[in-house]
This record gives sequence, structure tokens and C-alpha cells, in this order.
Amino acid sequence: MLYGMDLTIVDEDLKTVEKSFQEYLASRVPLIGKIGKHILNSGGKRIRPAILLLSSRLNGYQGERAIRMASVVEFIHTATLLHDDVVDNADIRRGSPSANTLWGSEASVLVGDFLFSKSFFLMVADGDLKILKIMAEATTHLAEGEILELVKTADFSITKEEYMDLITNKTAVLISAASRIGAVLGNAPMEHELALMRYGHNVGIAFQLVDDCLDYTATNETFGKTIGTDLREGKVTLPLIFALQQAKDIEKEHIQDIVFSEEIQEKDFNDVLDFISKYKGVETTLKLARDHVNRAKKFLDIFSNSPEKQTLVRLADYIVDRDR
Ligand code: FPP
Ligand code: MG
Repeated sequence: MLYGMDLTIVDEDLKTVEKSFQEYLASRVPLIGKIGKHILNSGGKRIRPAILLLSSRLNGYQGERAIRMASVVEFIHTATLLHDDVVDNADIRRGSPSANTLWGSEASVLVGDFLFSKSFFLMVADGDLKILKIMAEATTHLAEGEILELVKTADFSITKEEYMDLITNKTAVLISAASRIGAVLGNAPMEHELALMRYGHNVGIAFQLVDDCLDYTATNETFGKTIGTDLREGKVTLPLIFALQQAKDIEKEHIQDIVFSEEIQEKDFNDVLDFISKYKGVETTLKLARDHVNRAKKFLDIFSNSPEKQTLVRLADYIVDRDR
């Protein structure tokens, strides 16, 4: 169950994936298990493992390897979150104090390294060079995307195209890889593999765009993260980019002053919210997210109807309808 979304056909597999986390976290160093369990048991949506499992079943594969690869993709995602919360100075993740808040940045980064290394260990043990290549490429892009984001911090001249490139790398490539690996496990023809890769890419873009909107519009309770973190970290995301593109210089300067200020007070944050709302930044971003969800679903057209296909369609819809 994905917060109200029925994933029945892969529910059992997802439970096995959860169990395998414990096994893969086993280490003579107890801190690894402690931090690993804290973040892995904190209520992640498991979007990546669900997509990988559904994609493999869609292509006729239901064996053990899909479970292992689903765990790997969640481990890699978790490693990036541990690192990302240090980079973003985030104090809350999934409604609980972030690992860096509880155990410090050093421990968070190092346990992230453990999860990342373990993932590659598991893929080497699986022995499929094609899957290894897909993941090696995806994680390289991921790191690149995150570095690009760092370089673009507080850059008010960032364009929509640059931003889309950034989120393609930091978010969409991993979801796309998960979807593609399902096809590889099912020995799917190249046309099907590419369609699933593109499905994952578009779902990934939509996911990040909705995340960017929620950072302005959600409530702390449902979102499980602190609202306004992007702005406080100087991240110029699409709702703001759309507004900046239409704003007068004097308005831009005011927003810039807020972002560069020592601390962003509630009144300042509300000014930014009003600014984004005046230029329909959130609506335009959500519309774009919906376009990507529709594109994602279109890539499934070449598959005949099945419960797996229907679930992938619903999962894409869920991405834009979620509030967390
Ligand atoms: C969350 O974005 C962050 C990512 C999707 C990618 C993080 C990538 C890295 C830290 C580099 C790669 C690391 C490894 C181990 C290969 P966000 O900050 O917009 O989302 P959030 O609001 O959930 O924090
Ligand atoms: Mg972050």
C-alpha cells in the first residue's frame, strides 16, 4: 500500500524487499544497522522498488532477482537521501528527525557510503553487466545532478531548461533505471525496454516537480519534511523560476534579498508565496508535472492490458495527486 494507492499485486514482493533490508544491513559495526533501520523504517513510499517489480512482471519475470534489484534501488535511493540531508542541512525527513540531526553529518555520510557500496556488491553478486552499467551510469548522473544543483544555488538566472536538466539527473535517472531494469530482467525487446525507461524518466520528472511545489504548499505534518527548505537553502526551483521569468525587476530584487538574508522569517516566506502565487508558479509547474505523467502513461501503450500495466498507470497518476 502506497499511502492509499493499491499495490496489491506486488505487496508480497515488497514485504520480501523490506525483509531483505535487515539482511543487507548486517554488519559488525552496529551504527550501520541503527542508522540504516532509522531511515529505511521511516515510511518511505517505495516508489522505485514498486516500479522495478511491476516492470519486471509486466515483462514476464517474477523471480528472486527482481526482489534483490528492488532492494538495491531503494538502498541507492536511501544512500542519496542520507547524503542529501547533510548537503541540504535538513532536520526532518519523513516526519522524523533526519539521521544527521540524530547522529551527525559524519555518520550520515559514511552510512550512505555503506549503503551505496553494498548496492554495488549485490549487483556484482547478481552478475549482470548490463544492469551494472545501467546503475553505474544512473548514479554518476545522480551525483552530477546534485553537484549541478549546488553550483546553481541562489542563481536567479537559471533557466527552465537548465532546471529540467538538473532534475533529470538528480531524480529522474534513478526512477528510469528502476523501470528499465525490470524490462532487462524480463529479457524484453529493446522497444519495450526503451518505453519503460521513458516511462520512468517522465514519472521521475513529475515526481520532482510535485516535490518542488509541495515544498511551498504542503503542511509540515503531511509532507514529513520542513516546508520552505528549498528556499532557505537557496534552491531556485521551477515554481519560482516561472514567477521570476514574468516579474518586474523590483519584485525580483525583493525576492533575491529574501533568499540572501541571514534568516528567512515567516513574513518573508509569505512574501515569496504571494509572489509565486501572483504569477501562477505552482499551477504552471503542476500542469507541467501532469503533462509528464500523461507522457509516461503513453509510453505504456505498446503493452497489452494487464494488472501490472494498470498499476503502473495508477502509480503515475498518484505521483501528481499526492500531498506528501
Ligand atoms: C533529493 O532532492 C536528492 C536527490 C534526489 C539526489 C541526491 C543525490 C546525491 C546526494 C548525490 C549522489 C549520492 C550517491 C550515494 C550516489 P531534494 O533535496 O530536492 O529532495 P528532498 O526535499 O526530499 O530532500
Ligand atoms: Mg533535500
